Amino acid sequence: MNQAARSDQAPASGETLLELDGIGISFGGLRAVDDLSFRVRRGEIVGLIGPNGAGKTTVFNMITGVYKPTNGHIRWHGEDLTGRPPHSVAKAGIRRTFQTIRLFADMSVLENVIAGEHLQIRQKWWQGLLNTPAQRREEQTLIDRAMEVLRQLNLADVAHENATSLPYGAQRRVEMARTLVAKPELIILDEPAAGLNEFESAGLNDTIRAIRDAGVTVILVEHDMSVVMNVTDSIVVINFGKKIAEGKPEEIRRNPLVIEAYLGQDDDDEDPLMQAVRQEQVTP
Ligand SMILES: Nc1ncnc2c1ncn2[C@@H]1O[C@H](COP(=O)(O)OP(=O)(O)O)[C@@H](O)[C@H]1O
Ligand SMILES: [Mg+2]
Repeated sequence: MNQAARSDQAPASGETLLELDGIGISFGGLRAVDDLSFRVRRGEIVGLIGPNGAGKTTVFNMITGVYKPTNGHIRWHGEDLTGRPPHSVAKAGIRRTFQTIRLFADMSVLENVIAGEHLQIRQKWWQGLLNTPAQRREEQTLIDRAMEVLRQLNLADVAHENATSLPYGAQRRVEMARTLVAKPELIILDEPAAGLNEFESAGLNDTIRAIRDAGVTVILVEHDMSVVMNVTDSIVVINFGKKIAEGKPEEIRRNPLVIEAYLGQDDDDEDPLMQAVRQEQVTP
């Protein structure tokens, strides 16, 4: 194994952060993911797409340590991450968001964001244990960091409002802010457009770019065509657990294998990517 451990110095932009090298896993007789390889470079927004049942969530779960691949390796900064438990993966700098929003209902936006970070550290400062100067300094550092993230995600104005009273799109940004406050190097977004209306989903592009501009690399697991195509630098497409295409959004949109994979789905499937691919086909 090489020695590319994390360094305090800013590494060259574009270096490989995450590498999936021939990973695979089976459930019973089903090969859910098979011999999948791709890389994620620092500063990129990478889309992971595929029809329903293609294996996206399974890949996600292998990267985040929920499932252990039976084949292949996952490398992070060149170090083998394969089979590490979720908390260890998170500690290494890889964080995820959840498809369903999980905010504390009785807390403000700021408190929610700080609570997210606070899960990693010791004291429940918000419960009034602010006795020593060290604790007060710790609190102020957390507030400063949380406000920085809230500004990045355009949430500073609502910092003191009740988190769950915000519109759904803003709640989703609070979820992301909560993840970002821990300064991950890579964030994996699990279908962030799910449940958003058209307007909110358009705003999501700006949010994802803001995350990248804040220095965080992004993997986007997503169905929404408009989000994936407009915001990603590159896209990996999987079907039946195998990679069928990889490239820039314009290339992916025209790739016959991708079109075929999406057209092969049931007619009543509501997947927006499939709909968009269909429209693309009938309107040259
Ligand atoms: N824990 C599991 N046990 C058995 N089969 C699973 C499990 N997780 C996923 N699968 C199967 O693996 C395949 C890929 O699923 P999944 O990764 O959820 O696809 P996607 O997220 O792309 O829709 C599907 O056929 C699914 O039924
Ligand atoms: Mg899924």
